[in-house]
Amino acid sequence: MSQKKIIAVFGATGAQGGGLARAILHDPNSEFAVRVITRDTTSDKARELAALGAELVSADVDDKESMVKALQGAYGAFFVTFFWSHFSPEKEGQHVRDMAAAAKEAGIKHAIWSTLEDTRRWVPLEDNSMPTLMGKYKVPHFDGKGESDHYFTDAGVPVTFMLASYYWDNLIYFGMGPKPGPDGNLAITFPMGDKKMAGISADDIGKCAYGIFKKGPEMIGKTVGIAGDQLTLQEMADALSSAIGKPVAYNEVTPEAYRGFGFPGAEDLGNMFQFYRDFDEVCNTTRNVQVSRELNPELKSFDMWLAANASRIPLD
Ligand SMILES: NC(=O)c1ccc[n+]([C@@H]2O[C@H](COP(=O)([O-])OP(=O)(O)OC[C@H]3O[C@@H](n4cnc5c(N)ncnc54)[C@H](OP(=O)(O)O)[C@@H]3O)[C@@H](O)[C@H]2O)c1
Repeated sequence: MSQKKIIAVFGATGAQGGGLARAILHDPNSEFAVRVITRDTTSDKARELAALGAELVSADVDDKESMVKALQGAYGAFFVTFFWSHFSPEKEGQHVRDMAAAAKEAGIKHAIWSTLEDTRRWVPLEDNSMPTLMGKYKVPHFDGKGESDHYFTDAGVPVTFMLASYYWDNLIYFGMGPKPGPDGNLAITFPMGDKKMAGISADDIGKCAYGIFKKGPEMIGKTVGIAGDQLTLQEMADALSSAIGKPVAYNEVTPEAYRGFGFPGAEDLGNMFQFYRDFDEVCNTTRNVQVSRELNPELKSFDMWLAANASRIPLD
């Protein structure tokens, strides 16, 4: 193990980083070892990874010096930020700035930064097709990431920019699954019109990141979007119907209606789906299923994801 190149993984106890950590730990022939970066090395999730062979190191993205220390001696690092724990693009930007500086200081040879588009490249603030949020963003949890990409290049960190897709796991954990309507029939509610949306099994994100690390230096400086499938919401509803064994309709709403649902982040997500809908070609060209499968031969389609996960989707 001491001969292996260490990959330091942020968010290793979560979805994206967890997929990467497990992909490496489950590969007995891997050239890499895993360093889990966590705020709590005693948590059950951290211990589970340690039991699989990971090293546990504590750091907090709010504390740059802790990140510099945690990255010492690592060959590679996977960076992801945690927008939904604070809802602040400015805070996210600060975290990325500190991550990039820490990566430089620690001499990281290959970083992967899990970013998203700065949607203002396509929807400038003066474009009233969607509201400006928080004073200067269209899709805050995208824009704050995209506008921070330059921190890595400015610092001279060898980096691959990776853009993830909509996690299908949101149907389980984020309250986006089928729900009974007033007529009692199940429906999924999205403002996507008839456009195809790129989606992915959350654990495949980390597996694709592993593929990027395995390819190594040829991936530095590249931007790679990943997806397991690109489907219309009607196609997703049909696949859900087959997997669940009950009819699931697609309840198409407008982005305006979605923004008005009132849950935390509804406006941000309403704008995000509108961006996915109105710039479907941009989003789906960036998120290439074929490229993702080359990086991760186990990549799941939506049907494959449903075969493993449909029974976990809450239906009430
Ligand atoms: N949901 C989607 O469809 C989707 C799609 C594309 C991109 N994204 C983006 O994915 C990002 C979240 O990634 P994820 O889903 O993998 O996260 P996640 O599953 O919520 O994982 C969060 C992990 O982050 C760690 N963490 C949280 N705060 C931290 C801090 N201050 N310092 C160090 N570690 C911290 C936690 O580890 P410890 O508790 O062990 O410290 C936790 O295990 C978001 O920025 C979101 O915008 C989401």
